[in-house]
Amino acid sequence: MIEMTNIEKIYKMGNSSFKALDSVDLTIYKGEYTAIVGPSGAGKSTLMNIIGCLDTPTNGEYILDGLNTKCSDNKLAEIRNKKIGFIFQNYNLLAKLSILENVELPLIYLGYSNREVREKAKLALQRVGLETHLKHKPSELSGGQMQRVAIARALVTDPQIILADEPTGALDSKTGKEVLKMLTDLNNEGNTIIMITHDKEIASYAKRMITVRDGRITSDELNKKEMRA
Ligand SMILES: Nc1ncnc2c1ncn2[C@@H]1O[C@H](COP(=O)(O)OP(=O)(O)OP(=O)(O)O)[C@@H](O)[C@H]1O
Ligand SMILES: [Mg+2]
Repeated sequence: MIEMTNIEKIYKMGNSSFKALDSVDLTIYKGEYTAIVGPSGAGKSTLMNIIGCLDTPTNGEYILDGLNTKCSDNKLAEIRNKKIGFIFQNYNLLAKLSILENVELPLIYLGYSNREVREKAKLALQRVGLETHLKHKPSELSGGQMQRVAIARALVTDPQIILADEPTGALDSKTGKEVLKMLTDLNNEGNTIIMITHDKEIASYAKRMITVRDGRITSDELNKKEMRA
């Protein structure tokens, strides 16, 4: 699903430059549930932005689902919309839209008919148990409910990969566990999940754990003792 070879990311600031990723080789197969961990500044978000086609590497090759991601910005945006579902720490919901409209948005970008848009969005909200709240605005929901809307939005397009950056970062531990359980369920249904976190305990809910330090992958191991969400 993901094949990265010798990826480098160099940020230029005036005259100086900073290598945020260095010689990263990474292969992730369909159906895996991977956590990427590492201390602050290690390069996790930089790596996630490249995996999610939000940014491109300075050097190296990234093949996503058989497609080379070295392409125009428009094409990259198209790949991103079709293949990736994002879940962020702060939910990134649009405040003025109802939760149904929030979940409909990615489908509208993909050009589905009005009827399909509505049906698929309702089904996705049903999957996360929010079918009774369709008309609510994000501000009328709890944090956990907002993250469930974000999960519905991420999976409504049936993406190849679900990318979650600190998905439980803003939640209390009980609500965080519910979100982790939902990610485990999605993985059990065959979805490929990549979760970024600085918290090793949260990472232990995934099946594979990759550690990033100073822009390099320093370990890549299977979680022997997976936590049960
Ligand atoms: N746009 C940018 N311009 C310059 N340097 C950057 C930029 N974005 C990130 N960096 C630098 O690259 C390094 C890696 O940043 P990154 O955001 O990937 O870390 P992170 O592992 O996600 O950290 P955190 O856990 O704090 O989110 C940091 O040293 C950061 O200062
Ligand atoms: Mg980060």
